[in-house]
Amino acid sequence: MKVLLVNGSSRNNGCTNEALKEVARALSEEGIETEMVFIGNEALPDCIACRKCRETGRCVFNDAVNEFVEKAKSADGFVFGSPVYYAHPSGRLLTFMDRAFYSGGKHFAFKPAAAVLSARRAGTTASFDVINKYFTICSMPVVSSTYWNHVYGTQPGEVAEDKEGLMTMYNIGKNMAWMLKCIELGKANGLEHPENEKVLTNFTR
Ligand SMILES: Cc1cc2nc3c(=O)[nH]c(=O)nc-3n(C[C@H](O)[C@H](O)[C@H](O)COP(=O)(O)O)c2cc1C
Repeated sequence: MKVLLVNGSSRNNGCTNEALKEVARALSEEGIETEMVFIGNEALPDCIACRKCRETGRCVFNDAVNEFVEKAKSADGFVFGSPVYYAHPSGRLLTFMDRAFYSGGKHFAFKPAAAVLSARRAGTTASFDVINKYFTICSMPVVSSTYWNHVYGTQPGEVAEDKEGLMTMYNIGKNMAWMLKCIELGKANGLEHPENEKVLTNFTR
């Protein structure tokens, strides 16, 4: 089993990475493979709503998003991490997730996910809320922890001192491993996920 940990910061080795490493440590202890996915710090085009992905399953911008969706097909779980910018997740991560979920949403369904945030001071719960919404409209079980999924600091060294934040990260990893093993055990015993119904209306019609 494999979990992809997405770093939505422009800083590969910053505070978000420090948080994700702790989730990965707990997953590894449980025998779950992990891969860090740094979404980069080059310009990333936003979704242009061309809907071409509806026909091809791929975004017209052939970049890190398409690469990630390819990896997502065989992944079993996801952790999306972001710094807090003006009380929201990084614009970079939101662009990345908009395009990944719009073009490849079906590859995320029924796979557990968690959101983690890094901040200097405030805006964490609002940002947490934004990321979780991608999961809950895509049939993804949300992995919880023992407190807020946040770490605090401006430098990785400061995050390393946030013992409670790191404990929360570690517990996300343990809880996700447990959920993944439950799902695997269910499948081994013939329990498949439901086939969701799909009705699309434009508001009321
Ligand atoms: C443009 C920008 C906006 C920020 N806005 C906030 C904010 O609203 N609240 C906060 O607590 N920290 C804010 N920060 C600080 C970062 O969230 C914090 O330093 C974070 O831990 C950085 O994570 P990283 O090292 O992974 O990029 C901001 C940083 C930047 C660059």
